[in-house]
Amino acid sequence: MRLTRSAAVRTPTEIASMRLAGRVVAEMHERIRAAIEPGVTTAALDRVGREVLRDRGASSNFLGYHGYPAVICASPNSMVVHGIPSDDVVLRDGDIISIDCGAVVDGWHGDAAFTAPVGEVSPERLLLIEVAETSLDAAIAVMVAGNRLGDIGHAVESTAVAAGFSVVEGYTGHAIGRAMHESPNVPNVGTPGTGAKLRIGNVLAIEPMLVAGQPGTDVLDDDWSVVSSDGSWAAHVEHTVAITDRGPEVLTLP
Ligand code: MF3
Ligand code: CO
Repeated sequence: MRLTRSAAVRTPTEIASMRLAGRVVAEMHERIRAAIEPGVTTAALDRVGREVLRDRGASSNFLGYHGYPAVICASPNSMVVHGIPSDDVVLRDGDIISIDCGAVVDGWHGDAAFTAPVGEVSPERLLLIEVAETSLDAAIAVMVAGNRLGDIGHAVESTAVAAGFSVVEGYTGHAIGRAMHESPNVPNVGTPGTGAKLRIGNVLAIEPMLVAGQPGTDVLDDDWSVVSSDGSWAAHVEHTVAITDRGPEVLTLP
């Protein structure tokens, strides 16, 4: 029995094209990360993202997606994902901020996210970011042909739980390629050895979303912003990763 649908298989040439999109996303990350400081607005960070897309001749897969109004998502503190950049959201010393960006080059999509401290941040919040990053690394490490989707989810979940954090309920990663969101979804929880087999040529966006408290979320009245129900702080990290005959290759790196 097929446990879940398999992701599309991309040729090495197609993966080379996706690498170009991934590099633009990585450059958005670098430029936005450098702009994060107390006093900056999330709208200003969105403008940095737009500049990189323009300079690289790339388009945005976020702008216009179900009517989404920006090229990045900027989600501070207890906001998990999908925060809309705003001139009214001013980052303050001690905040953490999750930035999610995507780019399209020649019809191929890249998608990646990071969470960064703003100024001086408490050790507990730095740990949340660090564990989210470690959980992403652990997931990438098992992205080897022959392993299964459940191995990815298990890597994220076990890393989070061992550190005392929760995996956010109801949101997942996804296959990516000619569209930002392709089938199947890639859950951040799982049982080892279960789910679709990973094959050479699969390209997946792996995106751990961790919270310090309980896993439940709410969507705010703007119909986008996802916040933790208990107000606990959240970290979101993501890479677009190809499964190659030499193992996992992260496409959203500079
Ligand atoms: N990039 C997000 C994801 O990781 C989706 C953002 S949708 C948008 O799947 F509309 F907010 F851009
Ligand atoms: Co994604």
